[in-house]
Order: sequence, then structure tokens, then C-alpha cells
Amino acid sequence: MAGYDIIDKVKASLENLCPATVSCADIIALVARDAVSQQFGKDLWEVFTGRKDGNTSIAKEALDNLPSPAATFEDLAASFHEKGLNKMDLDILSGAHTIGMAPCSTIATRLMPVTDPTLDQGFAESLKELCNRGQNNVSFGTPRFDNQYYSQLLAHRGVLRSDASLLEDTESLHLVGLLSRGEDTFLKNFGAAMQKMGGIGVLVGSDGGVRTNCIGVQLLS
Ligand code: HEM
Repeated sequence: MAGYDIIDKVKASLENLCPATVSCADIIALVARDAVSQQFGKDLWEVFTGRKDGNTSIAKEALDNLPSPAATFEDLAASFHEKGLNKMDLDILSGAHTIGMAPCSTIATRLMPVTDPTLDQGFAESLKELCNRGQNNVSFGTPRFDNQYYSQLLAHRGVLRSDASLLEDTESLHLVGLLSRGEDTFLKNFGAAMQKMGGIGVLVGSDGGVRTNCIGVQLLS
């Protein structure tokens, strides 16, 4: 979402060519696919389109629907289940944390006053140093979209408590091992899980509209 300037540019071009036709919801789904795929030079998954945008936006609703970065495996599995996603989807989609950053505030309780004993101690020290130095964010992993997230987890170098939680469940631990050994398997399954997630709560027909501005509230039905 930090890349909203890109979303705005895409929306402006589409409005020029084909007014009030392509929803912001579809644009976000397509741009997410393209952002992940660009390093591979081909689309990693097909995005089904035809979503409408919601008629209202309530910031609190987004937060209410997001699991906490401090969540246990049980909490995460329950919140994914509520959306029709299973434990395998949870493991596979969490692999998105191979890229991007997390604010120091989301890991503060893992570092202080006592270091989380499940965290590799050397890694914990380096996170502490970065955050104490006044840096606001720590990096999840590599700039490449790859399966290194899973090797990091197994080395107890998962950044968020919720990342580390994937080792708490026996089946999940087994899957993390498989994903750490097979990049192609990860990418293939990631694409399928993104398609599944992209089909949750989709608005069609008169249940929604097409926004003309993705950050604004103006709607055409
Ligand atoms: C399993 C539950 C999840 C939790 C608890 C979680 C939590 C978080 C948190 C706290 C951040 C830092 C965001 C910020 O405040 O700036 C983050 C970043 C991110 N998450 Fe997740 N996340 C989860 C699942 C996912 C899924 C399913 C995806 C996508 C498939 C995803 C993709 C990302 C990406 C790409 C970033 C980096 C954003 C950036 O660098 O600006 N996460 N996540």
C-alpha cells in the first residue's frame, strides 16, 4: 500500500482510456501480481477480474480484519479460517514476507525488556542495534521474491512473532521445511494461494461500484 502513487498512475491511465470500467480492487490485485512477477519476466499467476469497489471505506474495518504481528499459530489459523483460508494457505502466503519491511514498533516486545528466547540471539542483537540506532524499519529479507523466508524461519530468524509462529505446529513446520527446499514449489503454490485470496469477499454487480479515484470516495455505479 506504500506504493499508492503507482496505483494512482495506473488508475489515471485507465480512466483516460476506458472511464469507470476497471475497479481499484482489480488494479490492486493486478499490480500485486505484476510487482511479484516482474523479476521473473512472466506472470506468476492469472488474476481473475471483475471485482467492484466497496461503496464505503472504513479504516477500522481493515485493522479489525488483519491478524496481529504478535499472533500465535492458533490465532493466525483461526483468522485465516474465518476468511476461508486453510493452514497451508497461511504458510504459503506468509512467504510474502520475503520482501518488504516491518516497523521496529511491531517487534519491540520481542526485543525488550527480555529477548524472545525463540529468536536467534545474534539476529536479535542485530535487530536491536538497527532499531536503537533510530532506524524506523527492519527488512524482512531479500529484495528478491524468493523462498528464503522459510530458511530464515528455520534458522529462528523470522522477524515477526507471527512469522516464528509457523514453527509451532507440526504440520506447518513440515511444510516450512518443504518450502525452504523448493523455490519453484513455493512460487507455484504462492500464485495459487494469491488467486484464492483474491476471490475472498468479492463484490460484483450492484453490490459495489467503480471508483474513479482509488484514494478518493467518488463513485460511479
Ligand atoms: C499471517 C499473518 C500476517 C501478519 C500478522 C502480517 C503482519 C505484517 C506487518 C505487521 C507488517 C509491517 C507493516 C507495516 O506496519 O508497515 C507486514 C508487512 C508486509 N506484509 Fe504481512 N502479515 C501477514 C500476512 C501477509 C500476507 C498474507 C501477505 C501477502 C500475501 C503479506 C505481505 C506483506 C508485505 C509485502 C509486507 C511489506 C510491506 C512494506 O514493506 O511496505 N503479509 N505484515
